[in-house]
Amino acid sequence: MCEEKAVYQYDAENDVLIRRPPHGADLILYRHELVWRRFFDADEGYRRAISLGQGHWDKLDTVSEEKAEQLLKEWGYSEQLQKEWDLMQEKWDLVRCRHSVRQFREKSIPQEVRDELDAFARQCSIAGELSIQIIYDEPRCFNSRKAHYGKFRNCSNYIALVGKNGEDLEERCGYYGEQVVLKAQELGLNTCWAALTHGKSEAIVAEDETEVILIALGYGQTQGRSRKSKSFSQVSDNTTNLPDWYIRGIRSALCAPTAMNQQKFKFSLNGDRVSVRTGRFGPCLRIDLGIVKYHFELLAGPENFTWA
Ligand SMILES: Cc1cc2nc3c(=O)[nH]c(=O)nc-3n(C[C@H](O)[C@H](O)[C@H](O)COP(=O)(O)O)c2cc1C
Repeated sequence: MCEEKAVYQYDAENDVLIRRPPHGADLILYRHELVWRRFFDADEGYRRAISLGQGHWDKLDTVSEEKAEQLLKEWGYSEQLQKEWDLMQEKWDLVRCRHSVRQFREKSIPQEVRDELDAFARQCSIAGELSIQIIYDEPRCFNSRKAHYGKFRNCSNYIALVGKNGEDLEERCGYYGEQVVLKAQELGLNTCWAALTHGKSEAIVAEDETEVILIALGYGQTQGRSRKSKSFSQVSDNTTNLPDWYIRGIRSALCAPTAMNQQKFKFSLNGDRVSVRTGRFGPCLRIDLGIVKYHFELLAGPENFTWA
């Protein structure tokens, strides 16, 4: 039987190769980028032109696998670089696909998933000097009038972010809480930060501690949906001659959840020093700051910069 092979298409004018495997997503590789990316993330204009069958479409020639390999060699494509990028791609998928979900299915979280999430939350608690508690099978907290007002349905699990009172407690809750959120996303769960729209939680809070915020957790009825976002220049003082890692970091920060989608943060780059400030008025700004900083770090790579 004949083995199914990928089809390669080449746009000689723009130096773009497209790889269409028999199964799975199409890939695109621009000569100057040296890595295959999923078509989904490729240049929007190009993608649209191709899917509409216009513009660039006409310039695409089907080429043999040998020809594609020859081009890859000429361009300096390396498996190593591809591996590094793919590693990043997983992180990128995680931040891009996370959306707030408020309506859940009545599906219980299996024990092995709980164990993994609990272990991760314990590590975050230690690193952030917090008490991150995950409460399972407790439908009352998100069954209150406030929760219904906030459109929560069927939420039986939540993460409580608790910590000793201190100056940067809220920022730490944002920074480490978002790590647990993205871990939950990786495990196939859905989440929604909830400052106001919930009832009383069953978290254990000592006298010198505060329950800062909760995060609803479970299997969503949907994966949520994209929402409006500020633009790059609205959240970054610098907009030209930027290193790739900074651009990745800002894009990731723009995907971060913020209270009421306020996105009141602004980044600044000076050499390899990055600073970020928040607006002065708005709910949960310090929690947002922690969340946004984690998103930036995750895609920028902490080895590339220091916080100013
Ligand atoms: C600190 C914080 C508090 C939030 N509080 C609530 C809340 O009380 N009720 C609610 O329904 N959503 C709440 N959210 C979710 C935001 O509305 C949501 O993250 C924002 O609209 C962006 O959408 P996204 O998460 O899908 O990207 C909160 C988010 C954050 C980060």
